[in-house]
Amino acid sequence: MFSDEIIREIDDIIARYPVPRSGLIPFLHVIQREQGWISPEAQTWAAERVGISPAEVAGVVTFYTMFNTRPVGRYLLQLCRTISCKLRGSREIRNHLEQALSIKPGETSADGLFTMMEVECLGACGTAPAMMINEDYHENLTTERVDEILAACRRDAGTEVER
Ligand code: FES
Repeated sequence: MFSDEIIREIDDIIARYPVPRSGLIPFLHVIQREQGWISPEAQTWAAERVGISPAEVAGVVTFYTMFNTRPVGRYLLQLCRTISCKLRGSREIRNHLEQALSIKPGETSADGLFTMMEVECLGACGTAPAMMINEDYHENLTTERVDEILAACRRDAGTEVER
């Protein structure tokens, strides 16, 4: 399922803790980094490696919203919908993203590049509206800025299309 290098990284993580199960969350972060999501097979594998049941792993994976329980696009857009962002136009940003990508929150664009999710406060309330794309913050969003960001993602992915 994973390369020897990744398995070594996971073993190193587990070894840092007094009991293997304590390393489960950083372990799951490695899986998600490698696969983009945490599949049922990966959950079973993680359970075996740390000596707990797959149901316990599933409980962790489904509790924390940062873990993806299904495949996502190359760019995971997490748009804040909490009060500061809402007051500063996050609904307009969401509508714009829906139109630009032809998807609703929770869906992935037809080209597989973008998955959009609405999330709670990202801790960037002072620069609302905010969203994260993968690990990067994008703040003070406007619809024009969103278009620039999406174009940059497409350029990076080598899929920019002429309009
Ligand atoms: S309310 Fe959106 S980042 Fe805090």
